[in-house]
Amino acid sequence: MLAGERTSWLRNSTVSNVVPIRPRALPSGAGLLRALESRVVGQAHAITRVVPYVQMFRAGLSPESRPAGVFLLLGPTGTGKTRTVEVLADVLHGSEKHLLRVDCGEFQMEHEVAKLIGAPPGYLGHRETPPMLSQQKLASVSSESCGLALVLFDEIEKAAPSMTRLLLAVLDKAVLRLGDNTQVNFERTLIFMTSNLGAREIGKEITPDFGFEALTSRARSGMQAKLDQVGMGAVRRRFPPEFVNRIDAVMTYQPLDEKALSEIVDQQIEALGKHIEARLGEKAFELDVTDAARRFLLDKGTSTEWGARELKRTMLRELTQPLAAMVADGEIEPESLVRVDRAADGTGLTLAVTET
Ligand SMILES: Nc1ncnc2c1ncn2[C@@H]1O[C@H](COP(=O)(O)OP(=O)(O)OP(=O)(O)O)[C@@H](O)[C@H]1O
Ligand SMILES: [Mg+2]
Repeated sequence: MLAGERTSWLRNSTVSNVVPIRPRALPSGAGLLRALESRVVGQAHAITRVVPYVQMFRAGLSPESRPAGVFLLLGPTGTGKTRTVEVLADVLHGSEKHLLRVDCGEFQMEHEVAKLIGAPPGYLGHRETPPMLSQQKLASVSSESCGLALVLFDEIEKAAPSMTRLLLAVLDKAVLRLGDNTQVNFERTLIFMTSNLGAREIGKEITPDFGFEALTSRARSGMQAKLDQVGMGAVRRRFPPEFVNRIDAVMTYQPLDEKALSEIVDQQIEALGKHIEARLGEKAFELDVTDAARRFLLDKGTSTEWGARELKRTMLRELTQPLAAMVADGEIEPESLVRVDRAADGTGLTLAVTET
């Protein structure tokens, strides 16, 4: 299991504080797919599209003079778009943070684009405005085990037109010209662009008459084709054809059904257990979360409208914070077992400590 291979010293590495990443054996294509599928729940159709581009890069057969892969990730909020790129970074480079993220919402005005490429020499602020995207930054998010840098442009529909033009040059020739007239080469990158374009229509397609979870698997795959079409329609209305034509794969994320959301609850409880173990060391304790408690978190923290977005906050409020208060007050002995159940009145969770 890949998560198990990860060593704790890798966990906290960030782009700005890059820890030397120990070279590690990368999984095969099938292994990569399995790793992604197990950690991005219910979006297999989308994830499958990425793997061949990673494999092409690893084989040295990516086309020249263009990025190794360009993906557009569409779909409702909280369905795993950003998560996909984070998990890929973890599998390829050993840390979910080992990627370059550009929040296009920060570049809605024409003058803000200078933050991205740096101001031209001679302009006021030239020295204070180092470009956000540079060859060095790209190198810092690749690793010895994999020379492929992951670049994520979030919410591209918010980018100013001049940023879209810059992006077009990157997608087309894998080149970004900086303010000081030097060039950044993007051949060894996978570019992910996320957008909520079409998400509302996608929601409408699914919700008014029936929930997505109510569909049979055959109806679901028919619906998938329809969702792809709706998403692409919205993208074509917003971006020129030359932009759309340079995208290698459009991945439409489905609203998460109850089964997927329930699996995510289990994953997050497991992650909390690991976090307690890693952070508290000898003072760590075990968690036993009943089905009723899991159901409570599922009902409170997730919805087909908001996907899994609320889940982390609900877990923090209902479980992590009450646990932390008990730890801080010395109420949990090391190595004890904390049983988490739903309160009898259904308004919250109860935490009971039992010695093991
Ligand atoms: N398919 C999924 N599998 C596992 N966890 C998920 C999934 N979707 C969402 N999550 C959980 O919810 C959090 C938010 O998801 P994510 O950031 O991927 O949303 P998004 O699709 O990028 O939404 P937005 O459009 O709002 O940016 C993730 O950090 C993860 O914990
Ligand atoms: Mg996102």
